[in-house]
Amino acid sequence: MRMQLIVLLTVHVLASVFWAGSTFTLARLGGVGAEALFRPQMGAAFVVFLTGIGLWLLVHSGSHGLSEQLLTAGAVAALVAAGIQGALRRRPALAHRIAAGLLLVTAVTMAAARYAG
Ligand code: HEM
Repeated sequence: MRMQLIVLLTVHVLASVFWAGSTFTLARLGGVGAEALFRPQMGAAFVVFLTGIGLWLLVHSGSHGLSEQLLTAGAVAALVAAGIQGALRRRPALAHRIAAGLLLVTAVTMAAARYAG
């Protein structure tokens, strides 16, 4: 259980660092180079989602405290960010500016959740 948790959390954080980091960078660059990163970003988002579900099942299933509310808010923001990156693929500057804001919210809520309750 402990090793499973460490592996899941490590993969979750590594994939989310790539996804959020590349999104922040592309927002700053006005979307230049976004097409080459579209598939890797969506792949990372998928890994983040799967490992996030795994972490939820291992650590949070059955709980409904402030931590879980923060994690849920962050997960919803992340899913909307992925949806916008997919839907606005032809308008990468706009897509990455919106997604960057949403992933910032996710990063803050995920980090805060552990100490929230
Ligand atoms: C659908 C998407 C996501 C889901 C379902 C999800 C779910 C989770 C869960 C359940 C945890 C475990 C918290 C704990 O150990 O108690 C976690 C941790 C974490 N998540 Fe996510 N997450 C998602 C997306 C993201 C994204 C996009 C980022 C970054 C931008 C992110 C960053 C983190 C970080 C840094 C932690 C570690 C927090 C800590 O242990 O202190 N997550 N996530």
